Amino acid sequence: MNTIAWSTDLEIGIPPIDKQHKRIVDYINELEKLKDSNTTKEVGDVLEQLVDYTLSHFAFEEELMEESGYVFVKAHKRVHQLFVRKIASYVERFKTGENITNELLRTLRTWLVNHIKTDDNDYSLVVRRKMNIVTQKKGWLNNVINKIFGTKEAIS
Ligand SMILES: [Fe+2]
Repeated sequence: MNTIAWSTDLEIGIPPIDKQHKRIVDYINELEKLKDSNTTKEVGDVLEQLVDYTLSHFAFEEELMEESGYVFVKAHKRVHQLFVRKIASYVERFKTGENITNELLRTLRTWLVNHIKTDDNDYSLVVRRKMNIVTQKKGWLNNVINKIFGTKEAIS
């Protein structure tokens, strides 16, 4: 079975983000596990949850990048947008009855692991620097999370 093993080299050092990435990995692995033995409805449900969760996660990351003054936020947003578009086209094909699960899973696995290790790692340096500078005073990250979601546990 082709699942992603979570390991520390997938961590970028920002706990809420690492938690969200792990959850996305869990969804991908769940999809891998049920792709052959379950109904289209079950695969569709997990796919929907995966898409919803990933969209919230991207929004969260983008706010974090904006708040930290990360200069490449626009380019990173663009990468997110292109990925969302790509996944949306898979979902459309899935809805018409095409069996796209294996192809989709390959794309998800490759894209996510690469994205975390390169693009996300890149902004993490800036965000963590900002966290360290402001943390002593008030907990910058918690403030940003509260600002985005109203509560720091809104996305977990
Ligand atoms: Fe990202």
